[in-house]
Amino acid sequence: MKKTIATLLIVNGLFTLSYAAERYDTRAFRIVTKLCTPCHGTPFYMAKQLDSDDWEYFFDNEKKMMDIHKKKPKGMASLKNKLFQKHKKRLKKFFIKSSKDSGAVHGCDANFCGTHH
Ligand code: HEC
Repeated sequence: MKKTIATLLIVNGLFTLSYAAERYDTRAFRIVTKLCTPCHGTPFYMAKQLDSDDWEYFFDNEKKMMDIHKKKPKGMASLKNKLFQKHKKRLKKFFIKSSKDSGAVHGCDANFCGTHH
């Protein structure tokens, strides 16, 4: 009986750990780091600059987002990048989930530590 409870506790603990480690989309995080961070700062910092409504707006009006980057060839290249085009749905979700009004506060992990940018 005691053994069962111990096992349950351990399994439960593992679930909690893996859940905590995957609270955000690490793939989206890496894509943003690669394509946007050189100008916009770390992905979480970048996400926090806008409300969820704004992210929704920019991703639903991609042309507007392109217009803003017209004078930034590197920014344009990022928006046209295959990685961005292929994964924009999850990037949108990532930004909304970490936006200014999301209340999300991210701790330190292998991808991210602190708010420096
Ligand atoms: C070469 C630099 C550069 C890169 C790379 C870049 N941007 Fe930008 N981005 C800018 C500049 C400059 C602005 C205009 C900021 C302003 O006017 O306040 C901007 C503005 C924006 C805005 C409008 C809201 C705001 O913060 O002003 C969005 C949304 C945005 N960028 C998304 C992205 C995304 C998503 C990526 C990556 C796929 C990206 N940008 C990559 C330079 C860049």
